[in-house]
Amino acid sequence: MLGEDVEQMALDQNKTPLFDAVKYHVKRKAVPLQIPGHKHGHGLEEYKEFVGENVLRMDLNETRGIDMIWDPTAVIAKAEKLLAGAFGATYAFFLINGTTSGVQAMIMSTCVPGDQIIVPRNAHKSIFNGFILSGASPVYVQPEIDDRLGIVLSVTESNLRRSIEENPGAKAVMAINPSYYGVAPDLKRIVETAHASNMPVLVDEAHGTHMRFHRHFPISAMAAGADMSAASLHKTGGSMTQSSALLIWNSKINPNYVKQVLNLTYTSSPSYVLLCSLDVARKQLAVRGAEILDRVLELTSWAVCAGQKIF
Ligand SMILES: Cc1ncc(COP(=O)(O)O)c(C=O)c1O
Repeated sequence: MLGEDVEQMALDQNKTPLFDAVKYHVKRKAVPLQIPGHKHGHGLEEYKEFVGENVLRMDLNETRGIDMIWDPTAVIAKAEKLLAGAFGATYAFFLINGTTSGVQAMIMSTCVPGDQIIVPRNAHKSIFNGFILSGASPVYVQPEIDDRLGIVLSVTESNLRRSIEENPGAKAVMAINPSYYGVAPDLKRIVETAHASNMPVLVDEAHGTHMRFHRHFPISAMAAGADMSAASLHKTGGSMTQSSALLIWNSKINPNYVKQVLNLTYTSSPSYVLLCSLDVARKQLAVRGAEILDRVLELTSWAVCAGQKIF
């Protein structure tokens, strides 16, 4: 899937192909002769009573018509195309083991054991664990620190440039957009600087899903021309906990290779409850994201003003 396809699908962001297929299956009331063993919740009555029947009916596995996450060709493939279109990516993968699995797949897709990656000192533990899994090792670049607020800011272009000069053999540059504190780097300059030395840029956007969908936020990884990004839709995009996206924007990154890397750790029994939440959250972001984020910004500035009056 590439280029034109993405543009075509981007026009149709009201669609939710995966959610529709699952809803169809739920409404069909087929007798469940396969796993999961709770059989639409009949085997877990106390839980069903609280969460409702639909969520347990949506908990499907090995069922015709709902595709397979490890090699999608039907409704998941369509839903992933829409996901790519919404984020301005050339390719996208659903993740049901959080951005953690996306960050690790980015590292494992670009490095082999012994390689080095330039990485901000304030990186999340998923990145460090990615080094353990891949056999690559970090070259740290120090972000700025705000002494007054006592928080880490982001890596500057000049710090990155120095690190690249000192480590010309590094295989990639990792960026965080934004940090846990909401601080975003000048990502466009970071991408330009890394690309000038032929280093791909891998972005941890665990806290940055929303940024693509409103003009008042800093630039997103895909818009800045970064090569890959992992985004926690479950944090700021409305989907359920654990559900994230891995995005690719670079013809040099082979999506089939990335898929194989993801398949090293993908479960063979993905939760369709989580996957459907990604499909619907993507639609909501694409169709109503700007409107919802307008309101979020309004409420945020109200809360900041109210806080200033109190403190
Ligand atoms: C900066 C950062 N990167 C990556 C992650 C991992 O994201 P997830 O919880 O979706 O696996 C987190 C989680 O809090 C994070 O704060």
